[in-house]
Amino acid sequence: MALSVVLGTACGGGEGGGGERDGGDLISGPDPGSQPTTSGGELTDAQVSMLSRAPSGWTYYRNRRDTLSRSSGSGHSESHLRTRYNEVAAAQLGADGKVRGNAVFADSSLIVKELIAEGTLNRYAIMMKMRASDNAGDGWLWAYYRPDGSTLISITSRGAACTGCHSTGIDYTRMNDSYP
Ligand code: HEC
Repeated sequence: MALSVVLGTACGGGEGGGGERDGGDLISGPDPGSQPTTSGGELTDAQVSMLSRAPSGWTYYRNRRDTLSRSSGSGHSESHLRTRYNEVAAAQLGADGKVRGNAVFADSSLIVKELIAEGTLNRYAIMMKMRASDNAGDGWLWAYYRPDGSTLISITSRGAACTGCHSTGIDYTRMNDSYP
């Protein structure tokens, strides 16, 4: 049941589209506050995806669980969204639930944006701070996952499709820009 970090070279990387492992009971993942670090190993898409879909332990942007309408600056086309932060990431939020102006997110910070079209969850966009990871782009892992947890854009792409837009935000985050 415990989420073990894959050590050494067992994981060959490069299989971006996969994600079919761990197909079953993914919603019962660990509390995101108790996730492992990558010391000595690398997280896989399956692990990051599972952490992102943990059922509890989240703080929502602006402390609101309702959805926001898409912003004009967004690279994400769905009409609505909702963004949540695990315990480590939430330490960088102020009492108003916005990211602090001088925020620097610690390793293991996980931010999940739920992208919602016509009332249905379409995909998750995720950022996970893991500075020492070989997959990090600007210190973060970047990915899109489908609602069933499978991978649309793998962390192994190192944020190639993401960091252009995200380079201007507070520690590469953009919610404060779109929803001040
Ligand atoms: C065209 C610009 C653009 C691109 C490309 C883009 N994003 Fe974003 N992203 C934004 C903006 C703007 C926001 C703020 C919320 C909004 O307006 O939708 C955001 C918000 C987010 C958030 C919520 C946390 C935060 O405050 O930034 C996550 C997670 C995220 N994006 C992940 C990704 C990933 C992963 C990719 C690449 C696969 C990506 N984004 C590509 C513009 C972009």
